[in-house]
Amino acid sequence: MEKEIHQLNKAGTTFRTIIEPFKIKTVEPLWMTTAEERQKILKDVHYNVFLIQAQDVIIDLLTDSGTSAMSSEQWAGVMRGDEAYAGSRSYQRFEAVVHEIFGFKHIIPTHQGRAAERILFSVMCKEGDIVPNNTHFDTTRANVEFRGARAVDLLIDEGKDTQSKYPFKGNMDPEKLKALIDKEGAKKIPLCMITVTNNSSGGQPVSMTNIRAVKKILDEYGIPLYLDACRFAENAYFIKLREDGYEKKSVEEIVKEMMNYADGCTMSAKKDGLTNIGGFLCTNDDILAQQERDLLIISEGFPTYGGLAGRDLEAIAIGLKEVLHEDYLLYRLAETQYLGEHLDEIGFPIVQPPGGHAIYIDAKTMLPHIPGSQYPGQALVVELYQVGGIRAVEIGSIMFGKVDEDTGEEIPAEMELVRLAIPRRVYTQSHIDYVIEACKRVWENRDALRGYKIVEQAKFLRHFTAKFEPV
Ligand code: F0G
Repeated sequence: MEKEIHQLNKAGTTFRTIIEPFKIKTVEPLWMTTAEERQKILKDVHYNVFLIQAQDVIIDLLTDSGTSAMSSEQWAGVMRGDEAYAGSRSYQRFEAVVHEIFGFKHIIPTHQGRAAERILFSVMCKEGDIVPNNTHFDTTRANVEFRGARAVDLLIDEGKDTQSKYPFKGNMDPEKLKALIDKEGAKKIPLCMITVTNNSSGGQPVSMTNIRAVKKILDEYGIPLYLDACRFAENAYFIKLREDGYEKKSVEEIVKEMMNYADGCTMSAKKDGLTNIGGFLCTNDDILAQQERDLLIISEGFPTYGGLAGRDLEAIAIGLKEVLHEDYLLYRLAETQYLGEHLDEIGFPIVQPPGGHAIYIDAKTMLPHIPGSQYPGQALVVELYQVGGIRAVEIGSIMFGKVDEDTGEEIPAEMELVRLAIPRRVYTQSHIDYVIEACKRVWENRDALRGYKIVEQAKFLRHFTAKFEPV
C-alpha cells in the first residue's frame, strides 16, 4: 500500500513524509505521569484501565469513537446551530448533506449508532429471525439478540487468519450466505447487513465486488441489504487504493456506489462523522421509515432532531464532508499503517494488514507463557499503561469469555487481542513515535509479564467494571 500512497500524495512523489493535513488551533494539555505514579494508579483501579481517569492517561487509544478533534468549521457550525424543536435549519442542512453523500430517501437522526440499530431491528425483526452480517459489532449483535433474533457472522476464511494479507479481509462469504438462506429460508431473514469497515475483524475493508456479489444473492430472494456505515469513508479509500478499476474514481463516487447497492444504513457519526456524538438511520422504504419515526419519537425525539441538538446536526453535516477529503484519508490510513509497520518490525504479532482505525496485537502469540485463563490481553494492556501511560483495550477472554453453565468454568475467547484505536485528527506523528518507543520497551520485557485473575465482576459486560489482581 505504501507505494500507492506515495503516488497519490499531492505534495509530490518525492516527499516521503505524509504530513497531518491540518494545523493546530486549539490545544488540550496532556498531563505527564511517572512510572511510580502509574503503578499506584493501576493498583487503585484494581488493574482495570476503564476505571483510570482520562487525565491520568498520556495517549488514549481506548477507542476512535466520539474522540475526534473537530475542525474550526465544525465549531463554527456549532455556533450556528438552530435549536428549534421542529423543522430546524440545522436539520435541513444535515438532511441535505446525508442525502447528497449517501443517497437514501429517508434520513432519521439518532443520538448514536446503537440507537439507529435498536430502531432498525425493532421494526424489521421478530422473534426467531436471523440477521447475517460479515461480523456484527457487539452493540449490533446485542440489539439483534435483544429483539429475539439470531445474529450470524459470515466472514470469509481469510478474515479469520490473522497473518493473511488478503486486501479485503472484511468481506462476507457469499457462499456461506447462500447456504444460510437455503437452509433457513428467506422468510426468516428480514435483512442482511455488511459492516464497513469490519471493526470486529480488525478494521478490515470490504470490497465493492463483495458488496455487489452479496446484493446479487439477496436480490434473488428479495432480502434487503443494510450497511453498518460507521467507517464508510475509510472503507471507500481502501477500495480506491486496492481494488481494480477504482484508482481514478473519487471517494465520493465510490461511497455513492457502495450505498447504491444498499436499501439503507445505520451510522455512528462518532466515527467517520468526525463528531463527538450522533448517528442516523437511513432507508428507501416509505412504510419502514414511518414506523421508524414513530419509534424515534417515543425514545429519541422528534424526527428533525432525534436525540441530538441542532448544533450536533451542524457538526455532523460538516464532518461528513470533511471526512471525504482525500488528503485527510491518505493521512488517516497512513498513520494507522505507520504504527502497524513499526510494531511489526519490533516483532509484535499484529493482525495483518493494518486496518483503517486501529492496530490489533495478538497477545496470545506474544505471551505464550500466559494461559488464556490468566488473560494475556489484560497483561499487555496493564503493561502498556505502566510503561508509557498508554490506554488500549483488551478484546479477548475478559470481553468475550463465556462461563460454562454446567461446570461454572470459563471458556476462553477464540482470540486474545489488544486494540490500539487511533482517534481522528488528535495525535501527531511524534505521539505515535512515542507509542512505538513504549511498545518496544514492553516487547523487550515481555517474558517477565504475568497474568491476572478476576476478583470481582458484573454479570453483563464485565470488562467495564471487573477488578483484577496479578497472579
Ligand atoms: N457499529 C460499529 C461497527 C461500531 O464500531 C460501533 C461502535 C457501533 C456500531 C455503535 O455505535 O457507539 O455510536 O452506538 N464502536 C465503538 C468502538 C464503540 O470503540 O469500536 P455507537
